Amino acid sequence: MDEGRPSASAQRVAAYRLTFERPEAPFGDPEADERLARDVAAQSAGTRDDRMAKYLKARTAFFDRVLLNALERDVSQVVSIGAGYDGRALRYAKPGVTWFEVDHPATQGDKRERLGRLGISSDNIRFVGADFRDPGLAHAIVGGGYNTNAPSVVLCEGVAVYLGLPVIESVLRELRDVSTVGGRLAVSFSVSGGSPELSARRQRFQAGVEALGEPVRSVVDEDEVPTLMASTGWSVREISKKARRAGFVVAEPGWAPRRGTGAGGGGHAPARASRTEELMERVHHRAGMESLPAHLEATYGAGVARLSELDLGVFRVDRLEGPSWVARVFPAARPVQAAEGDAEILRYLAQEDFPAERLAHPDPVSVHEGQGVLVTEYVAGTAPAGGRQTFELLGDLLGRLHALAPPAGATGLARPGGGWHHVVPQGDTREELAVAVSLLGEAEERVPASCSALYEVLRDELASADDCQDLPHALVHPDFVPPNAVSLPDGGVVIVDWAGSGSGPRLACLGFLLWAAGARGQGCVDAAAAGYRRHVRLGNDELERLDGAVGLRGLVMQCWEFCVGRRRLAAVADGLPAARAHAGAVAARAREAFA
Ligand SMILES: C[S@@+](CC[C@H](N)C(=O)[O-])C[C@H]1O[C@@H](n2cnc3c(N)ncnc32)[C@H](O)[C@@H]1O
Repeated sequence: MDEGRPSASAQRVAAYRLTFERPEAPFGDPEADERLARDVAAQSAGTRDDRMAKYLKARTAFFDRVLLNALERDVSQVVSIGAGYDGRALRYAKPGVTWFEVDHPATQGDKRERLGRLGISSDNIRFVGADFRDPGLAHAIVGGGYNTNAPSVVLCEGVAVYLGLPVIESVLRELRDVSTVGGRLAVSFSVSGGSPELSARRQRFQAGVEALGEPVRSVVDEDEVPTLMASTGWSVREISKKARRAGFVVAEPGWAPRRGTGAGGGGHAPARASRTEELMERVHHRAGMESLPAHLEATYGAGVARLSELDLGVFRVDRLEGPSWVARVFPAARPVQAAEGDAEILRYLAQEDFPAERLAHPDPVSVHEGQGVLVTEYVAGTAPAGGRQTFELLGDLLGRLHALAPPAGATGLARPGGGWHHVVPQGDTREELAVAVSLLGEAEERVPASCSALYEVLRDELASADDCQDLPHALVHPDFVPPNAVSLPDGGVVIVDWAGSGSGPRLACLGFLLWAAGARGQGCVDAAAAGYRRHVRLGNDELERLDGAVGLRGLVMQCWEFCVGRRRLAAVADGLPAARAHAGAVAARAREAFA
């Protein structure tokens, strides 16, 4: 941009936006936004280009949607990077939300002068002057009053194209440093790639952007965007193909050790401020994935032809010779002994002829970059249909599992198991609930005063949840539901993903299967119960406490979704009565089937 002068392109964008229809919100002052934009447009030169109008209309709609979604999820801070003359802070001003507009002082000064002259209040906006080419963006934002413990949404619209790639990378990293759990970043890039026709169209368009007065400094290949985001600490969220093609991206914080806190870190960010963030890092981070093939080759002599990620840390390993394997790389926080325990359980299940995945090697556990690795045989099959037949089979298998009598003294089999892996790397339902209670406690400070009653409803529900720990124990799997079953051509199924299995209350494990069955209809509940009771007779105390066991995992999941910023508190709290009623109806039906 032209040093010392307000951004001409920002002025043009404001003029274009005047003609777009915008989504309405139950708060804010759209009229103030329009007054500002009209003031800017009156002095902005240039003719209107239809292609540009179409692009800017789509881009504006995209950023409006991301912003309104975030405001709905109760974020309390909006950061606008290269805010220009964007008037969203006026149009969508929401009580309790603070805006941080970060821009080059020349543009920002001009905008503030206009706001003052037009008598438009900007009390909800903190203006932060910065040149993105200089380091220190994170400090400047925090210096402007930004709270690094409160969730935010960051908008970076129409800015990246004017910055060189190294500057974009540094801006993205600094934004990650101030982003917290529940945060989102929306950014638009100028992208290349795609078919020759699309590529030519893009080039014509980029020439049009240059004609707005400022040179294009970066164009990113469409396919490289996720890598660019990941390398700067962000994880791209799935959005429509159309948006991706246009270079519009939504990301959430990725969970790697913070810069400056690990070996070789060069940043200035503090260590994780919250338990929730620590947990996200513990559960989600895997190191050294690029060298995993070499590790597998060196450890198992298995030539790797291809590695494909099936789930977080779970890889299908197509070998140069022989059938495919699965390599599970566990978080470093999960002790290697836990992976040894998984192997012990899988050995025992093979001995009992139980249809679980089988170990791929006599010595199936290794350590890669401090993380336990377990190799099993890849189970070729399909996802089960998920109807009555599937649930009867799963009920039958779960009953068989719970009827096994593991030998006393087998440490892997006796370890506490059955806790949900998103909150406990290895543990039982007691620990699962304790972590959920602690996350919810920490989230309290993010709850706006207007929602405190909802928060208390959720906290009470969690406090009275039944972990079933005093009920009969068995060998349990934490997720005995269709996504962890693979259907074989002969009609059988194999249960996979035994990490987190161990000794736990059988009712909690059965409860989650019944909950999943109930989501498909009461007929599936009958089927699951019919299969299960072939092997296990539940005690009266278990039958009485079935409601709580059916509702337990769903409650923890909902609570977690709120705590990590994926769901609104109001949506979770409002859904509790229906969830309770659903669990009650499923439990009543299952009780009948067990009688
Ligand atoms: C095309 S405008 C977009 C404005 C706004 N986001 C919108 O969509 O209406 C680009 C903005 O980036 C800012 N900008 C460009 N290069 C910058 C730099 N090196 N440092 C700070 N701001 C910069 C300009 O001041 C301008 O406000």
